[in-house]
This record gives sequence, structure tokens and C-alpha cells, in this order.
Amino acid sequence: MRTVDCDYFIVGSGMAGLVAALHLAPHGRTVLATKRRLEDCNTNFAQGGICCVTDPSDTFEAHVRDTMAAGANLCDRAVVERIVRAAPEAIKDLVDAGVEFARRSDGSYDLGREGGHSARRILHAGDITGEKCEAALIRAAKAAPGLSIRENAMVIDLAITRRLGLPGPNRCAGAYVLDTAADEIYAVRAAHTVLATGGCGKVYLYTCNPDTATGDGIALAWRAGAKIENMEFIQFHPTCLYHPKAKRFLISEAVRGEGAEIVDASGRAFMKRYDPRGPLAPRDVVARAIDAEMKRTGAPCAFLDIRAKGREFIENRFPNIYKACLSFGIDMATDLVPVVPAAHYCCGGVKAAIDGTTTVPGLYAIGETACTGLHGANRLASNSLLEALVCARECAAKLAGRPDTLPASLKIPAWRIGRAVAPDEAVLVAHNWDEIRRLMWDYVSIVRSNKRLARAYRRIRTLRREIREYYFDYLVTPDTLELRNLAAVAELIVRSALKRRESRGLHYTLDWPGCAAKGRPTVLPGFDISKGAAPVHSPAAAD
Ligand code: SIN
Repeated sequence: MRTVDCDYFIVGSGMAGLVAALHLAPHGRTVLATKRRLEDCNTNFAQGGICCVTDPSDTFEAHVRDTMAAGANLCDRAVVERIVRAAPEAIKDLVDAGVEFARRSDGSYDLGREGGHSARRILHAGDITGEKCEAALIRAAKAAPGLSIRENAMVIDLAITRRLGLPGPNRCAGAYVLDTAADEIYAVRAAHTVLATGGCGKVYLYTCNPDTATGDGIALAWRAGAKIENMEFIQFHPTCLYHPKAKRFLISEAVRGEGAEIVDASGRAFMKRYDPRGPLAPRDVVARAIDAEMKRTGAPCAFLDIRAKGREFIENRFPNIYKACLSFGIDMATDLVPVVPAAHYCCGGVKAAIDGTTTVPGLYAIGETACTGLHGANRLASNSLLEALVCARECAAKLAGRPDTLPASLKIPAWRIGRAVAPDEAVLVAHNWDEIRRLMWDYVSIVRSNKRLARAYRRIRTLRREIREYYFDYLVTPDTLELRNLAAVAELIVRSALKRRESRGLHYTLDWPGCAAKGRPTVLPGFDISKGAAPVHSPAAAD
């Protein structure tokens, strides 16, 4: 087995991974791995923008207040303060990389507004902010000396010394990687491993996330023994396009920020019946209201109505969304736009400090993979790219002065295939993939109950047993690895939801409709790695 040696191993190519890599490359040998192409990540699909207090009439205090309010009193104030205040400096990274945020004719930023914000404070590049940022960062990464980029490189498991039976204090020493193009397994030996793999929207049947969002980093960290926090808080975006041919197309909240109403099929606005803030209430409130209206009336969707703004405004402010809707026969200037809620963002994740430090030495988590305390029980719109950017910089600042600290004697043992043979029953993978996503949608989505969660828990345990058996019986493939991660993350969501005996933010349960006076995070212990001190890819190392 080949071993690639480096100082910094970064997994994931969205904003968090690329920014961390760009800052670390000048300080040591840096490898960035991504399981498909660089641009296959959630950042590329972010429409709304990135929060930053720039307007003289806005304040850091107001941004902090809005973040805390959306997070339903579960945010860590110190973390919120630091990230919000770091925004203006951090944004310079993007501007330096060539991102042109929209400006008004007087040269000031053209600031967008979204639900839960008391002011216009969202920097945007039309309605494809994520795509513009991703393209600029990829350009910079490709030109960065000392940065080695590996596409089609999928991490199978982290190399955790105790699990591998290696001497010395327990730590992460890199990872085993499957080169999906060459079908080769190799090791990356690294003093510092940074997980920036994004979220896990694919765990739900309906999601606006790309296919890559299978919760890999969260599952890898959990199997490595890291603590996991707040996984019950899955954000459902209220307005995904509802059309048989539209796969996961988001209608940005910025559309509501510019005046769109949420209406029923006959054009009647209904949000004010649910919240005085109407369509600009935070996402949890709007998604639940749409879900309730759909259940009450039996309608398959709700609608966005932005016709009053006129064609010229809509075409200029939302060119991408306008064009996409038109391709499905919907003219936003004259038609109502059919929408449904769909899984969008994971507010929980690997318990991490603002600089990415996790509970496992040598392992870091940043961006959507991490749970830093910024989002609490519900993320404020457009705070996600901000967190990815700021935490990537903080993580790099922490690690930059600490190159290789792995003892030379620490060698990663060769990958062993155990009794595995080439897979001949791929139908199990396809079947279990569908079953997990459907059961999570039916039992663990916008409105939960004890009964639904208990049912989901029973099913997911059975499925995980089956998947584990399959994993050890057959040689690994990208599909098996994603399924294994997806199933682990599904179980973490269900277990966290079962632990929360109240309704708060994104976690709403019929059995505990009230919110406790004092909120606490839900912390799940990492997998007990002492059970797995055995050769890799053998049943004894099972999670
Ligand atoms: C959107 O454009 O509605 C998504 C923005 C976000 O998730 O923060």
C-alpha cells in the first residue's frame, strides 16, 4: 500500500476546505482530497450570499442578536460574537481571490435581506454567490504552490492510532483513501487532518443538497471516537422548487427578502396566520407553516408570489432562478412558483471549537461538518458561508505554526481486505439507500413524535447491521462507503432527536411541544474505539 506523507490533510473542497488549504499551503506540505470533482460541493449551490455587517446603519450587535434569536437560545454567544466580528476581515479573502460582490451605482455593496435578519447585510453575487466564490477559490487553489489536489479521493476511515493498535497516546494520524478512478486504496499520513466535507442533506428523500452531501465527515469523525453535537437540528429550507423534473432546485430566501409572499393555490397569503413576521420569519417557522398548510388542505405544495416586483427587477436580481424556473415553464413575472420544504443544512455536527479542534487529537472539523455553537437550534440565513470562511482561517492560523509532529516511527498499517470479495449484490446498496432516505423523511423530518422516532430508530439499527455485514463481506466501492456514512448519520440524527425532550428551533415534536427555560446542546459520545483495536476492514473494527 502506498503512503502519501504530508503535514496538513484537508478533506473536502467547498469554501471551508479551500480556504483552509490556501492558508496552510505556504506553511507545510498540504494535500486536499475531494471525493468527486472540486466543484462538487454544497458551496457551489449557495444562492443567497454571505452575512457581513458593512452598512453604517447596521451593527455587529444586531447581527449577533439576530443569530442568537434564530438559534432559539442555544447558540454560544462567545462564538457568535467572534464569528460576526471577524466577517469584514475574512471577506477580504474572497475579494482578493476575485469575487465581485454586487454593488450599487454609488459603489456601496448591494445588500440582500433574508428571514430572521433585522437589516440588509447579505453580500451577494447575483443569485449564484456560492458558484462565484467556489470558482474563484478553485482558481486560487490550482495556482497555489505547495498544495496538492486529489480529486476522486474518498476517505474510507481515519487512521486512529488506538484503533490501529499503534503505540503512544491516541490521535488521528491521517486516513485510508479510496482512489475511485484508479480503484486503489492508499494511506495519507498527516499530523493534522481537517474535515470539511459539508453536510448530510442526502439522508432525506427531499433535499436541495447535491449528491455528495452524505455526511461523510460526521460519520468518519464519529467512528474515530469524536463527540458529535446537536444532530437533531436539521434545517429544512421552506422553498425548493416543486416540479417533477426539477431535482433539488432552491428558490433562494432572498426572493422573499425582496418582497415575495407565500401563498396557497388561490393566491391567498397565509404566513401572517402563523407568525407576525410573515414570509420573513426564520426558516423553521416558515417550513413548519408550509408543512401544516399542506397537511391541512391536502395540497402537494405552496407557492411563492413575486409577480408584484415586475419582470425587469426579477430578471436582474435573480437571473439564474428566473432562467431555471422558465426552463420548467414557470415565468416568475406572471406565474406563482410552486415550492415545498426540503432538507437544506445540518446545524449540528462534529463538536468543534471555532478553530476546528475536535475531541480527537490531530483531528479538526470546519464548515457544515462542525458544530461550533454558531447556529444553535436553527441557523440564521447566510451565516453558513460566513462560518466556513472564518473557521477555516482560524483553523489555519492555529495549525500554520505547527508542522509535522508525527513521530517518524508512526507507520500506518497496510489496508487489509479481510474476507471481502468483489460485490455481486449491489441491489442491497440501492435498496437501503432509498429506505433510509424515505424513513428519515417520513419519521424524522419537520414534525416529529416519540412514536415516529422510535420506529425510525428500530429500522435504522436493522439497516446498519445489514450494511455493516455487507461492508465487511465485499470490497469497498464509493456507493458502499456513502451508504455506510449516510446510515451512521441517520442514526446520529435519530438518537439526538430522541434525547431532546422539548421542541426548540428546528426540532419540533408533538409529544414535547413546549420549549424548556434553559436549553442545552445534545452531545453524543464518539464510537468507542477501544472495541476496534484490530486490523482495518475486519469485523472486529466494526462501528
Ligand atoms: C438561500 O439562498 O435561501 C440559502 C441561503 C442560506 O442557506 O443561508
